[in-house]
Amino acid sequence: MPADMMCQQQYIVVKALENGVTIIGLTRGKDTRFHHTEKLDRGEVMLAQFTEHTSAIKIRGKARLYTEHGVVDTFDD
Ligand code: TRP
Repeated sequence: MPADMMCQQQYIVVKALENGVTIIGLTRGKDTRFHHTEKLDRGEVMLAQFTEHTSAIKIRGKARLYTEHGVVDTFDD
C-alpha cells in the first residue's frame, strides 16, 4: 500500500489494563509470522495503524481496545 494511503488508515487504540500487556504484529501475506512485539504497562496507551507489513495483531494480557468496531476488552471479568 502506498505511504499516503497507509496514513489514511483508521487508528486503533490499545490501553493496557495491567502491566506487561503485549501487542504482537502479524505479517501480511501468505505466511503469518510475528514481526514485532510491543510491551505496555498498566495505563499506557498505544495508537497504531495496520500497514502493508501488518494485517493482524494479537494482544496478550488485560487490555481495552477502541476501534471503529467499538470498545472491546480482552477479558470480560
Ligand atoms: N498473513 C495473514 C494475512 O495477511 C495474517 C492474517 C490476517 C490472519 N487475518 C488472519 C491469519 C486471520 C489467521 C487468521 O491474511
